[in-house]
Amino acid sequence: MSNEITVEDAEARARAAGVQILDFDPECDPAFRDDPLGTMLAARRAGDIFYSTAARGFWVVTSYPLCREIGTDTDNFSNRETFTFYRKPSPGIHIPPNLDPPEHTKIRRMLAPLLSPSAVKKLEPAARESVRRLADEVVARGHCDFMADVALRVPADVFLEHMGLPVEHTDDIVATRLLAGELNASNDPDGSRLAAATTKINQMFVEVIAERRRRPADDIPSYLLAQEIDGKPLTDKEILTMCYTLLGTSLGTTASTMAMLVAHLAHEPGLRRSITTDPDMVGGLIEEALRYFPSIPLLPRTVRADIDFHGLPWKEGDRLVLLLPTANTDPGVFDEASTFDADRRPNRHIGFGLGPHTCAGSHLARMELRALVEEWHAKVPDYRVGDLSEVKHELSVAIRMTTLPFVVGSSVN
Ligand code: HEM
Repeated sequence: MSNEITVEDAEARARAAGVQILDFDPECDPAFRDDPLGTMLAARRAGDIFYSTAARGFWVVTSYPLCREIGTDTDNFSNRETFTFYRKPSPGIHIPPNLDPPEHTKIRRMLAPLLSPSAVKKLEPAARESVRRLADEVVARGHCDFMADVALRVPADVFLEHMGLPVEHTDDIVATRLLAGELNASNDPDGSRLAAATTKINQMFVEVIAERRRRPADDIPSYLLAQEIDGKPLTDKEILTMCYTLLGTSLGTTASTMAMLVAHLAHEPGLRRSITTDPDMVGGLIEEALRYFPSIPLLPRTVRADIDFHGLPWKEGDRLVLLLPTANTDPGVFDEASTFDADRRPNRHIGFGLGPHTCAGSHLARMELRALVEEWHAKVPDYRVGDLSEVKHELSVAIRMTTLPFVVGSSVN
């Protein structure tokens, strides 16, 4: 366990190295609630790396090459902390995100079959059916809150059964998980609301794991119960943590990307038409959405041992944040970086992260996004959304629009 680095210590080192110092506070600064991506992009002006005195203090890395260098170097940079911005260190760990190699490698290998392309293929009919059903409901009503009524429902319809969770409690699970994903230093400074939300979902998993131990089924808890690492079965606590992590990582992230993409498409009738007339463009559209709207915008890392990083005297325990919105629009890497271009080739975005911790659910997320884009626009080719300048966002690990008012019919541009 490393020393806790104080803001004063790191700030003095940043100042001596000529690095800019900002109060960059995604959880408590209201600017991030109004326009999270815009506010993050504006921080690029502070340089490739700056220091933020917010929360417990952290260095922010904005350039693509430096994010890549750090994200792929697990020898020098650890993943052990989740809640970088929280006013106190994270109480527990998530598996696998907070493990480092070699433990991390073994867990990723063990989880791979659950989220492989062939496993995801089996879930595709459920995703498409979910989008078609929701589209019919919305067309009948004429309007909806796209975030709550569609974007969050599709990943839940696809994944909850796979997680062994009782689908009749979908609303409750989604609401609880959503709450957990929205809690941060500004609305839950002592972490007590997060603990309560976590307990409720964990209790459901405790019951499912006990049941599957008696009677295995074809789902993730049953799979995990049958696994061994280094010749030893996983403990119930490990299985519980993994189930909670998979649920947490799978819902809000995909929903958020869906909502941000649909909000963008609402103002792009030509792009919407192309979806139906030129299905081959959908893959490029989705990759561009992942580049342009990274729903997990801040990747935390911790310095493992004192290191000179491009002239910066980083110490063991220094907290870092890789800022994906700026990395994904780095003008040195992407032509016309601030333009949304569905035909962008190549598109080396890092919206799914990078290195050994690259998103484990990327195949699932891409499949769900494709199902949404194709099935939704086949049934609802024209629509408009509410004034985005009035839409608020919550930010903890992922960015989440709180609502997205949506009206079926000709768009007004
Ligand atoms: C559009 C949707 C999604 C986006 C943008 C996204 C993004 C990311 C990013 C950026 C990371 C890297 C975090 C880091 O390096 O610190 C990550 C990790 C992860 N994601 Fe996703 N994700 C999405 C959907 C999903 C889904 C559907 C699942 C399904 C279970 C999932 C499971 C995970 C897991 C387990 C990790 C941890 C991987 C590790 O540490 O080895 N994600 N995701």
